[in-house]
Amino acid sequence: MTSIDQFQDKAVFVAGGSSGINFAIAKAFAERGARVAIASRTPERVQAAVAQLRELGGEALGFAADVRDADAIAEALGNAHAAFGDIDVLVSGAAGNFVAPALGMSTKGFRTVVDIDLNGTFHVLRAAYAYLRKPGASVLSISAPQAFNPTKYQAHVCAAKAGVDMLTRVLAMEWGGDGIRVNSIVPGPIGDTEGVRRLAPTPEALAHMQASIPLRRFGRVDDVADMALFLSSLRAQFVTGAVIPVDGGSSLAGGRDLGSAVAA
Ligand code: NAP
Ligand code: COA
Repeated sequence: MTSIDQFQDKAVFVAGGSSGINFAIAKAFAERGARVAIASRTPERVQAAVAQLRELGGEALGFAADVRDADAIAEALGNAHAAFGDIDVLVSGAAGNFVAPALGMSTKGFRTVVDIDLNGTFHVLRAAYAYLRKPGASVLSISAPQAFNPTKYQAHVCAAKAGVDMLTRVLAMEWGGDGIRVNSIVPGPIGDTEGVRRLAPTPEALAHMQASIPLRRFGRVDDVADMALFLSSLRAQFVTGAVIPVDGGSSLAGGRDLGSAVAA
């Protein structure tokens, strides 16, 4: 590893960092010397994740906060800033999902996902602005292919994540003058995660999902963490407002595959 990939003593805040992809991102920065703060709803999950981060030898902090509560998330960000100083890397990755047709969602069900994914991201980014390093901060939102691939039974996630990517583009423009870069990472299907367990709950559905990925394998959480490291490194200093898939090519087909009608 060259020094360009080191994050020694950098301050990192990961909203939704207690599990899955977001925890892997938190861990990747902690392994490279960063001081990492995470926030999610469940105190026990936050404590367990912070304990794992501390085992890596660095400083880690955790906050029980719901991204739907703008004041709670602002308080967590303020406390992280008081402990670690200006935030070098901000990750907004908290999300919720369930599979249901639009007519099977109550207005509260639709609103719940939009509140977590989209409004939650606005709360995190808006409150963090005061604490971000200027110039130099890297802001990352964790989006999803539903942002640009219309997907049945995912009306709430499609609408919310499309909004997340638009926030990325708008804030990249508004905050570029401060030297803050804002980008979205779009994971494809990542193996052994809650997201995939919800979308493909049976072995058959898992096999079908895997077959639809051009690289023919599920992603690993570290595939996504590697992109977060890259986007926050000195190698990506001219990258902002980008929406970058890390998906084995799975978004290319837009869900349409002629399958057996054409020889492979
Ligand atoms: P996950 O393990 O369920 O991670 C979600 C995290 O967000 C958890 O730490 C959860 O902790 C936290 N969270 C949920 N609601 C919250 C709220 N209201 N306030 C604060 N924290 C909240 O899911 P994952 O599959 O790794 O997904 C992580 C991210 O990747 C999401 O943004 C998802 O949309 C995106 N993504 C995933 C995939 C995939 O293949 N898994 C594909 C595309 C995009 P608590 O329960 O303690 O709050
Ligand atoms: N079909 C239809 N509606 C559903 C549903 C389903 N499978 N699951 C939840 N809902 C509805 C509920 O019925 C409720 O609406 P109602 O009161 O009008 O009936 C609404 O969604 C809110 O549910 P609730 O359980 O009160 O919300 P919550 O804030 O406790 O949890 C969720 C949010 C529903 C998104 C929950 O799945 C969650 O916490 N997810 C986080 C983890 C996750 O999804 N990880 C994957 C990320 S890609």
